[in-house]
Amino acid sequence: MQLFVDTADTGQIAELAATGLVDGVTTNPSLVARTGRDFRDVITEITQLVPGPVSAEVTETSCEGMVTQGRELASIAGNVVVKVPLTWEGLQACHVLAGQDDPIDVNVTLCFSATQALLAAKAGARFVSPFIGRLDDIGQNGMALIRDVVDIYRSYPRTLKTEVLVASVRGPGHVLEAAKLGADAATVPPGVLRQLVAHPLTDKGLAAFLADWEKAKASAGSRS
Ligand code: G3P
Repeated sequence: MQLFVDTADTGQIAELAATGLVDGVTTNPSLVARTGRDFRDVITEITQLVPGPVSAEVTETSCEGMVTQGRELASIAGNVVVKVPLTWEGLQACHVLAGQDDPIDVNVTLCFSATQALLAAKAGARFVSPFIGRLDDIGQNGMALIRDVVDIYRSYPRTLKTEVLVASVRGPGHVLEAAKLGADAATVPPGVLRQLVAHPLTDKGLAAFLADWEKAKASAGSRS
């Protein structure tokens, strides 16, 4: 399962990329706006920090506008994935970008239903991003959507080649369930990525190992 980091904070990305555990990055207009920096500068820097896919989202809403902006974004670096919203216009833009002679990878975002995900795959998306946390927020079951989308794509492996990129992740439990369902990727905020490694028994066990080691060294020293 690929793990992407869901942020436009290049400091955090650099720190996490150094672990070798970050397969890609996703951004959206809200995350880039939070940095207060120029959009193109931020995306350029991220593509240099992480060799894997870096999602950069269009802000145009017409098919034509998204295609033009998508091509501009893709020209920043070879690992840019153009993110378009799951609207009719977005699906058409995906079809154009993914289907051109020199195809551009597309991540269809703001997916909240399995039928939307089916259409994203038919439009040729490399990734579809179902937003599970936002579904949970309104009392629906985000993980049930992941199960449905994974099942549907698995039923048509020859024609539906889109990867399920679990988005709007709120905690480690979401990552665990997504992995159990066989989702291709999850994009997680930096804090959640750090939580994935944390376990109190690991800390306690390591402290005990080190204390025992120090004791053994001290007693060996006192015998020599
Ligand atoms: O980047 C898309 C998605 O992961 C946003 O999540 O937390 O704003 O619902 P969130």
